[in-house]
Amino acid sequence: LTTTLPHNANRLIDTSERAAVDEWDELLGLQVDLFAAVEFNCLSRMEAWAHAQSVLEVGCGNGRYLAQLRSRFPKKDYVGIDLSPGLIAIANQRHRRSGLRFEQGDFLGTRPLPRCDLMILRFVVQHLDSFDAIIKRAAEGLEPKGSVIIIECDVARSAVSPPMPLFSGLLAAFEAHQSAEGRLRARLDQLATVIESLNAWRIASDAWISVSARGPFLGTKTEAVFEKWIDLCERAGGFAYPFDETREEVARWGHDGAASSMIALRMVELAYDRGA
Ligand SMILES: C[S@@+](CC[C@H](N)C(=O)[O-])C[C@H]1O[C@@H](n2cnc3c(N)ncnc32)[C@H](O)[C@@H]1O
Repeated sequence: LTTTLPHNANRLIDTSERAAVDEWDELLGLQVDLFAAVEFNCLSRMEAWAHAQSVLEVGCGNGRYLAQLRSRFPKKDYVGIDLSPGLIAIANQRHRRSGLRFEQGDFLGTRPLPRCDLMILRFVVQHLDSFDAIIKRAAEGLEPKGSVIIIECDVARSAVSPPMPLFSGLLAAFEAHQSAEGRLRARLDQLATVIESLNAWRIASDAWISVSARGPFLGTKTEAVFEKWIDLCERAGGFAYPFDETREEVARWGHDGAASSMIALRMVELAYDRGA
């Protein structure tokens, strides 16, 4: 599974080593298991989702999200593309037999995208650095009337109790560092300005949903995902931080029977009308 990465791959998504592919695979699996049900309830209330026949997941990773989407909404056609050859290999290994299609490719490259009437970018915008480029490519792949759904974690609106200052501080530091490097993770608010300047596009909805749980979290997927986020920040963050003390803080929190967690996700729906 050791692969050559496209030239524009960045450190955050560097899956050229087998160990990194496995790390991402595990993290993506946890995030699907924890959040997908709440996201799907929100999707099922969207008109654009109800009308979509063909769905492209941009940055589909290991394919788990698309596989779950298909089992909950079996009547649509699904395709996934991802920059990472290692993650696409896993997606194909696990899910191709069930009729899902996965392709390795750069969403922002020049190859024609599989045509669709709805694109989902889940936890992908955080890796990219230009809304203009995203919108331009989306318009190339969408049918004349189509939609884009962007899903991102909203760290600032999420909360844990009792508070974990080191853990929350780490996520905030990571976000600040990513933003300073130009990535869009904490800049979803700027999307409105980009969309307002384009005739063919409008923001159809912009909603926050939350995934809440009560402790004790010891041995749960919530604790595991927090540990993986710390690992990710340490591996890809590019800044110094007391990572081990942060792990200890999460471990103490995991033992606390009165602990709780609320993770906020933002779902933005963009409507495209080429005739507008
Ligand atoms: C955090 S993962 C999310 C995976 C999946 N959407 C999910 O929610 O499980 C982000 C994915 O975006 C992919 N990615 C980043 N930039 C990309 C690009 N320019 N084209 C295609 N995929 C990209 C990465 O390889 C990675 O698999």
